[in-house]
Amino acid sequence: MFLVIFADECIMIGKTKPSGRRKEVFGLNDHPDQRKERSTKGEFSDKIGRLSRSEAYRNFCEEVYGYRMALFNMMDCEQLDFLYQSIAPAPADTILDLGCGNGSILNWLNCQSGCKGIGIDQLDCELFDSSNPSISYRKGDMEEIQTYEVHSDITISIDSLYFCKQPGAMLRYRYRNSRKGMYLFYSQYLFENEAEQRELLQSEGTRLAQTLKSNGIPYTTIDYSKNERMLYTRALDTLRAYRHAFEQEGNLDLIEQKIKEDLLGKQLYEEGRARRYLYRIQPDIE
Ligand SMILES: C[S@@+](CC[C@H](N)C(=O)[O-])C[C@H]1O[C@@H](n2cnc3c(N)ncnc32)[C@H](O)[C@@H]1O
Repeated sequence: MFLVIFADECIMIGKTKPSGRRKEVFGLNDHPDQRKERSTKGEFSDKIGRLSRSEAYRNFCEEVYGYRMALFNMMDCEQLDFLYQSIAPAPADTILDLGCGNGSILNWLNCQSGCKGIGIDQLDCELFDSSNPSISYRKGDMEEIQTYEVHSDITISIDSLYFCKQPGAMLRYRYRNSRKGMYLFYSQYLFENEAEQRELLQSEGTRLAQTLKSNGIPYTTIDYSKNERMLYTRALDTLRAYRHAFEQEGNLDLIEQKIKEDLLGKQLYEEGRARRYLYRIQPDIE
């Protein structure tokens, strides 16, 4: 999980922690201002860039997630294995990853199956692992995907939709153009302990579920809350053990920040204020 700290708020992998007037980015009309967008991009570039190059971070990910690759999400190997088995990609298939980060997931899917991949993200191109000719990268805003010439069979998005201001149109478009379906991993956190917000935590009540429903996109869900909760605990134990290695690489600041985020995530689960789901969307057959 990644925390982007601004003067009066923080975003955990994109979910805004409200303070006073603050609201979540996703699902409301008052989208972030330009300054905040630039800051968020800058934060992601810095973290993803530095940690993608970090040997200590790869060791950490192997221990925590179960796969040796730099991941910036809340996917353990059970989720990743399920994704792979459920997609069952053929070499002729192309997978589009919305908010793909450094491209680790696409590269992994390609190594397993020989499928092709297209990643879209706002990160500068050099942060994307371009060593694999089967995977291409498009720098851009996923909410403008309709305007790009992108053809794919399957759409995935892992811990990235939180950043969208109005993802409905983009999701509708991908729904019509993903002949083998869509797989959206999404965690919902309640930063304020308000009883009336509890329904947000149900699979039918998250901001993503509301958007899918209001756009006529049918879905099924799988609850991965236990997996995410365990990831926080494992990450915290492992981060402390790797502290020295991160320090030697000059990445101590990132790791101290990550410890804070993971402590908050763990606390939210302990207080029953967090849930994680996979939203699985079958192809639109009409
Ligand atoms: C938490 S990271 C997840 C990265 C990747 N999906 C993974 O699993 O490792 C969120 C990603 O979303 C990207 N992102 C945020 N807003 C975006 C937008 N409007 N269009 C494209 N990418 C965006 C960020 O740059 C970041 O790489």
